[in-house]
Amino acid sequence: MRNNNAQVYRNNTANIEAIGAGEIDYAIVNNYYLGRFLATDPDFPAAQTTFESGDIGNLVNVASIGLLETSQNTEAALTFVRFLLDRTAQEYFTNEVNEYPVREDVEPNPTLARFEELVEKSPQVDLDQLEDLEGTLQLLQETDLL
Ligand SMILES: [Fe+2]
Repeated sequence: MRNNNAQVYRNNTANIEAIGAGEIDYAIVNNYYLGRFLATDPDFPAAQTTFESGDIGNLVNVASIGLLETSQNTEAALTFVRFLLDRTAQEYFTNEVNEYPVREDVEPNPTLARFEELVEKSPQVDLDQLEDLEGTLQLLQETDLL
């Protein structure tokens, strides 16, 4: 990244805007941001791709929800969890937000890459190893990226 004069933008959306403006050739962002641009401009000059199979850049990140054992609002929290997992909410997440549904009876947004393909290309990673913030910062400083 350093040798290729990587540019820094404030967030995923700004990265994709920079591609559209011709400032950069590619960006590493969460997949669903490009879908937002393509939904309003089918001719937006960018397409999603993946890295080589097993590359960390293909990491499939799973969103989750939990309920604290110490919660004083268990019923309200469970109502919220059920709301998020409801068919209507899952259809919203995939069709409006370009994310993958967790329910098997909800079809993924047809503009998304096949989920099975992403899983095949995803690296085998112990997610517990991704919590080493100090090590990450040290590596970025050693390589003059931070
Ligand atoms: Fe995001």
